[in-house]
Amino acid sequence: MGKEIKTIGILSSGGDAPGMNAVIRAITRTALYNGMKVIGIRRGFAGLMKGDMFEMNMRSVSDILQRGGTMLHTARSPEFVEDAGVELGKEKCLEMGIDGIVVCGGDGSFRGARDLAAKGIPCVGVPCTIDNDIPCTEYTIGFDTAVNTVTENIDRIRDTSQSHERCSVVEVMGRRCGDIALQSAICCGAVSVLIPEVPYDLERDVVEKMQRTIRTGKRHFIVIVAEGVTLYSKDAKSSAEIADYIEKRTGFITRSTILGHIQRGGTPTARERVIAARMGHHAVEVLARGIGNRIIAMQANKIVDLDLEEALKMTKELDVDMLRTAHEISL
Ligand code: F6P
Repeated sequence: MGKEIKTIGILSSGGDAPGMNAVIRAITRTALYNGMKVIGIRRGFAGLMKGDMFEMNMRSVSDILQRGGTMLHTARSPEFVEDAGVELGKEKCLEMGIDGIVVCGGDGSFRGARDLAAKGIPCVGVPCTIDNDIPCTEYTIGFDTAVNTVTENIDRIRDTSQSHERCSVVEVMGRRCGDIALQSAICCGAVSVLIPEVPYDLERDVVEKMQRTIRTGKRHFIVIVAEGVTLYSKDAKSSAEIADYIEKRTGFITRSTILGHIQRGGTPTARERVIAARMGHHAVEVLARGIGNRIIAMQANKIVDLDLEEALKMTKELDVDMLRTAHEISL
C-alpha cells in the first residue's frame, strides 16, 4: 500500500489511437465512482509542464466513447526527456494537488511516466497505440480499429485491382512493428506481406510468390508493406519503388497506396471499447492503492499490471505462427 490517492490526473501522450477516449472515460468514471477527484491534463506532458488542466466530472466524458482521437489532445514532448522538464511536471502536480497520474500512450510516454514516478508521483501507464508494439502486452488500444480500417480500405483497393487485373502495393503504419501489416495481410488475402522484423528479398518474397499464383490463374494481387520496411530495413525501398520493381518483373501494372493517418482515426471497434474499459478501470484500481510505476497489460486475455521499469526493458517477440499462417494461406 502506497500513499493515499485522493486526486488523479489523466493525460494522453504520443500518437493518438482510437479507443483513447474510451480509456479516458473509464478512468474518469472509475475514479469518480471511488470518490476521487479527477484532473484532465491537456496535450500530454507538454500540458502538464504548463499546468494546462481542468477538473473533470461524470459529464466531462459524455458522448466520447464512440469517438476516435482524444478529448484531452496529445503531443510528443521532447522537453520531458530532460530532467528539468520532469521536475517541472512534478512541481505542477504538487501545485495542483495531483497525487498520481494515468498516462495513456506508447513506449515514449511510459519513459516519461517512469521518470515522473521516480520523482515521487505515482504513475500508471495504459498502452494506447495503433502499432501494437509494446512488448509486455498482447494488445495495445487502437490496434483492432486500425486493422479494421486497413482491411476496409484494402477491400476497396482490391475491387479496382480485380477489375483492372493489377497489383496493388499498400503501405501501412506500425513504426518498427509489423503487426498491423501481418494481421491485415491475413484479413485481406495479400499475396505477400513485408514486415521489418523479417529481412526480405523482393524476388523471392514477392515476385516468385506472384508467379506461382499466376500459374494457378490469379490475375490481381495485394502486397502489404509495413512502413518499417520502407524506413528501417537494410536497403530500405519506398512502396513506390517496390511497386516499380514488381511491375518490371511481372508485367502486371502495379500501383502503390500509402494509407497514412487514416489508420489513426475513426470509431473504435466494440473490442477496442471493451478492452479500453477494462484497462482504464484496472489502472485506477492500481493507482488507488497508491502504487505507481506500473503498466497495464493484457496477458492471456487477462488484464494485469506490471512493473513499468521491467516492462520497458522487454523486447517484443514476433508471432511466428501468425507469420507462417499468412504465408501458407496466401498462395
Ligand atoms: O505510433 C503511431 C504511429 O501512427 C506510427 O505508426 C507512425 O509511424 C507514427 O505514429 C506517425 O507519427 P506522426 O503522427 O507524428 O506522423
